[in-house]
Amino acid sequence: MKILIVGGGGREHALAWALHRENPAVELVAAPGNPGIASLATLLPIPADDIDRLTEAAVSGRFDLTVIGPEVPLALGLADRLRARGRLVFGPSAAAAALEASKAFSKQVMEAAGIPTAASRTFTDLPSALSYIDRHAEPLVVKASGLAAGKGAIVCATRAEAGAAVTSMLGEGRFGDAGRTVVVEAFLVGEELSVLGLTNGEEITLLPASQDHKRLGEGDTGPNTGGMGAYAPVTPATPALLQRVREEVMIPALVELDRRGARFAGCLYAGIMVDPSGAPFVVEFNCRFGDPETQVVLPLLEGGLTDALVRVAGGQPSGPLAVRPGASVTTVLAARGYPELPEKGAPISLPAELATGVTVFHAGTARDADGVLRVAGGRVLNVTAVAPTFAEAQAGSRAGAEAISFAGKTWRRDIGWREADRLATRAARRDPADVGLSGPGASH
Ligand code: AMP
Ligand code: GLY
Repeated sequence: MKILIVGGGGREHALAWALHRENPAVELVAAPGNPGIASLATLLPIPADDIDRLTEAAVSGRFDLTVIGPEVPLALGLADRLRARGRLVFGPSAAAAALEASKAFSKQVMEAAGIPTAASRTFTDLPSALSYIDRHAEPLVVKASGLAAGKGAIVCATRAEAGAAVTSMLGEGRFGDAGRTVVVEAFLVGEELSVLGLTNGEEITLLPASQDHKRLGEGDTGPNTGGMGAYAPVTPATPALLQRVREEVMIPALVELDRRGARFAGCLYAGIMVDPSGAPFVVEFNCRFGDPETQVVLPLLEGGLTDALVRVAGGQPSGPLAVRPGASVTTVLAARGYPELPEKGAPISLPAELATGVTVFHAGTARDADGVLRVAGGRVLNVTAVAPTFAEAQAGSRAGAEAISFAGKTWRRDIGWREADRLATRAARRDPADVGLSGPGASH
């Protein structure tokens, strides 16, 4: 079997790693891939947004399956192109990928389907946006409607900040075309979860729920990023909550997309805010595996991913996926200046040996002409640790992150802090004899 993976970040490294682990005989090719993926796959130097060349490569290479990692080629219609040429592809059509590529469209779908989400309005004209902001309660969230690499949502404590945010997008061209339409929405309070499901457009298999850390700084401070670390499973993602997410969010979205002629087949990602009463609200939909969520979720699967991707690509339900016990934590090492202006070029020093259960996924790395590994992107490496308990996985990821060095290394030492607090509270309530035995329960 020959599989083409499109993309070159940590998510695609984790996909290649999981597919290889399941089936070492499978021939993997990645476009463009990265130096980490190169140890598992042949690399094709085609950028992930060059859908003409990717289509030709997938067709002439007679790949049995193409797995599209990032949102940009999906939004550009790579999956449509490949299907039109008779190739099996995992990833939604451009029409369905609009669920991520246009937050304005996504809000329309949610409204039509009665999916719980923050109250919002969409604007293309600055005076109307400013007047709406004037009439609504603080805090507010201003979002560029188009794709902005996870950085287009600005949480604004005051109306003045929200006014400045819409002015920067609609008036000054911040985020370019992606910011020419903005969504202004109410601020949701609660705890965020990333729920990913493999779907053929009708049935959906949820993967273990995870939690990303969107803010750059420790304690969830600073600007939004693509994600600074993640862990899975997450204690509040109980089977009952995930059932609500399935019934109130995922299935209605799939039904509504199908009704609009935009059937969604691939990985549907719901960013969920669980409010203080325990009810799920959608913060955003994505049309692909999460990054860095994939780097914690896939290592928790027992196997069956390859078959699930093939089945979904062929229009079938993915079928159940076995999840192993234990916990997984990933820490992102970013470049100095990320997310605004990451500094590239610093040489990277990786430890010769990694502790048991620790995997380093490459994201923004490149080898120079002399073979030296260097920083080549905003998020540089992801250090994932899988262990029997959350505490061990958290310590393993942190220690692994500590052992890697490059000039400007920017990272959070507190990935999983909410889960750690919960477990500490739970342990404190118990008989002292129980302390230390508290791993998180399976999430589903
Ligand atoms: P998005 O690009 O829509 O995923 O937003 C990025 C991040 O901004 C989310 O993961 C949240 O942390 C935050 N955010 C977005 N919308 C809201 C909202 N309505 N209320 C609270 N936080 C939000
Ligand atoms: N980690 C957030 C995302 O993949 O969009």
